[in-house]
Amino acid sequence: MRTPPSLASGPEGPHALRPLLDTVLDALSEGTRARGGPLPRGGPKAVAARMRDAVGDVLPADGDPNALHTVVHALAATAADPAAPLCTAHLHCPPLALATAADLAASTLNPSLDSWDQAPGASELEALVTGALAREVFGGAIPTALITTGGTESNQLALLLAREAHGAGLRLVHGANAHHSVPRAAWLLGLAEPVVVPAPAGVLDVAALDEALTELPGPHLVAATAGTTDAGLIDPLPEIAELCAAHGARLHIDAAYGGGLLFSDRYRERLAGLDAADTVTLDLHKLGWQPVAAGLLAVRDPRDLAVLHHRADYLNADDDTEAGLPDLLGRSLRTSRRPDVVKIAVTLMALGRSGLGGLVEQVCDRAREFADLVHGHPGFELYDPPTISTVLFRPAHAGDDAVAAVRRRLLTDGRAVLGRARIDGRLWLKTTLLNPHTRPDDLAALLKLVEGNTPG
Ligand SMILES: Cc1ncc(COP(=O)(O)O)c(C=O)c1O
Repeated sequence: MRTPPSLASGPEGPHALRPLLDTVLDALSEGTRARGGPLPRGGPKAVAARMRDAVGDVLPADGDPNALHTVVHALAATAADPAAPLCTAHLHCPPLALATAADLAASTLNPSLDSWDQAPGASELEALVTGALAREVFGGAIPTALITTGGTESNQLALLLAREAHGAGLRLVHGANAHHSVPRAAWLLGLAEPVVVPAPAGVLDVAALDEALTELPGPHLVAATAGTTDAGLIDPLPEIAELCAAHGARLHIDAAYGGGLLFSDRYRERLAGLDAADTVTLDLHKLGWQPVAAGLLAVRDPRDLAVLHHRADYLNADDDTEAGLPDLLGRSLRTSRRPDVVKIAVTLMALGRSGLGGLVEQVCDRAREFADLVHGHPGFELYDPPTISTVLFRPAHAGDDAVAAVRRRLLTDGRAVLGRARIDGRLWLKTTLLNPHTRPDDLAALLKLVEGNTPG
């Protein structure tokens, strides 16, 4: 009989892991070197072929002892690496080494947060971290937070809690600038077609919101955004909160991106009004430098979570709960659940508010510098000075086709990953700066690349 492969946990786990980690780290270095840029050259077909060639048969009759090196090397060689300064398209952050190391412990011990007997200490760590982050949002009351797979799940849960509080007649009212997951959650939950309030300047128009809340029958859930996906803009939260209070509407704020500003003394003020929300989406795999997934939904009134209560005798039998075993099943719609809290806890503790705030300020400073560079360059047009760390720009006098083409050319050549956003009927190039190691020189190089590769 063959000896089964080594396990990651248990007394022998660290011994088994150590040489494997060397293999992983070597393959990461070699694969990253082989890639040579922010993403692989050649475009989708060439990259897919390279991956197929590198990996070969993914389910061979007999195992391949080099599989770990082969797959990790191929993964790194074909990655869009958010640690590369010119990889700036999305809210796709480079994770901190510390957070990734902590995630290894989470994967190793594999606590699953659906029952206390699978996660005795991890469940308490989760309670500590979610309590601390919820207080960061709402202040000193007794708010709570759920850990999610990201902004999408947080928004879905926010809508679910609102529907359960107000009934299926609930009408979602959101800005035209809301993340697509907000109306999608309304569809998923069988709510009426949402009312879309214009956002002509990129943020929700308060007068139009007032009109919608006055004219349309309620109950209403208003979903505002703190950090829009396209431009990093923050809706006028205090005015929106005031309107919601006046109209008796429930308020959800999607701060998946902007929530990170809470850590910065310099920028926190931009989130004034956040604490008036009933629920707030946070997402530390954006402005929080965590590997995916690290989402949260902060909930002002923990009683709102009662609707998630659920019994499954094998996980939270009544008599177990009465005997004092914590009941975890009502903290998610998932059953098995990764301890994503571990990396978050390590990061919060190791960096503290000042460390995280410093990272936030660094990327916001870089964005301002980049915007200044664009603004001062006669060949480019700047959309607006950045509110967080997103800069929209386009080659002056170029049509939308040329803007789209330069982005794809740089992607295909593996030289830069830029995003795109259609605003005011025009197409813009988007950089979302999330890398605190990016230097002003990198940004100058990025602009030069765009300049040199714009067709026409
Ligand atoms: C404002 C906003 N909300 C929600 C999301 C969805 O987050 P996730 O991709 O983590 O589900 C995004 C993603 O970019 C976002 O920008």
